Amino acid sequence: MKPLSLLALGFIALGAHAGTAVDNEQLQSEAAGLIPAFQQQLLGTVKQAMAEGGPAQAVEACQTLAPSIAEQHRQAPWKVGRTALKLRNPDNAPDAWERSVLEQFAKRAEAGEPIQQIRHAEVVDGQYRYMQAIGTAEACLGCHGEKIKPELLSLLDQRYPQDQARGFREGDLRGAFTLSRPLAP
Ligand code: HEC
Repeated sequence: MKPLSLLALGFIALGAHAGTAVDNEQLQSEAAGLIPAFQQQLLGTVKQAMAEGGPAQAVEACQTLAPSIAEQHRQAPWKVGRTALKLRNPDNAPDAWERSVLEQFAKRAEAGEPIQQIRHAEVVDGQYRYMQAIGTAEACLGCHGEKIKPELLSLLDQRYPQDQARGFREGDLRGAFTLSRPLAP
């Protein structure tokens, strides 16, 4: 791999673990800029459902609305989603690249890097890909924590028979936002 040819593409090679790491400020800030609205809508939807019908309705809302919220925040040419190593919804399973980044994020979090700073961008097969860590807040514990209410647990068992997204503590790495777009030709 010739560093010069990477520079010629307009990217600065930062490392070479799973491919070509990039530091393209504009793409990175575009990607990061799409996340807050996506995150807020997810949280707002959960909170509203929680207020209206309690945790069961909130789980229902998560299950039925999360994918369509991701779809709404898909802003051409960007794709937006969430993934994790410990999954609740198998539809959110990481691909090989995402898995390796999540593993790297877990190491970085373990080494003490603040979760809100953990992010990674890379060009993979002509796609600009960006991931940003998601921490576990107190508000998440009711559904992802160590003491999930029994009625909620049985609902989760029923809806997500392979659920692994529980047992988290506040401040744990929960997963990551994952965004991608094809590079401009
Ligand atoms: C009302 C229960 C509830 C609350 C509260 C909740 N979640 Fe979830 N979470 C779910 C459900 C249900 C899913 C699966 C829905 C989906 O994405 O298809 C999910 C999925 C996820 C995923 C996608 C990866 C996966 O495992 O499928 C992430 C990441 C996530 N939650 C993080 C959080 C964070 C961070 C918080 C707190 C800010 C939070 N959740 C609060 C119920 C909840």
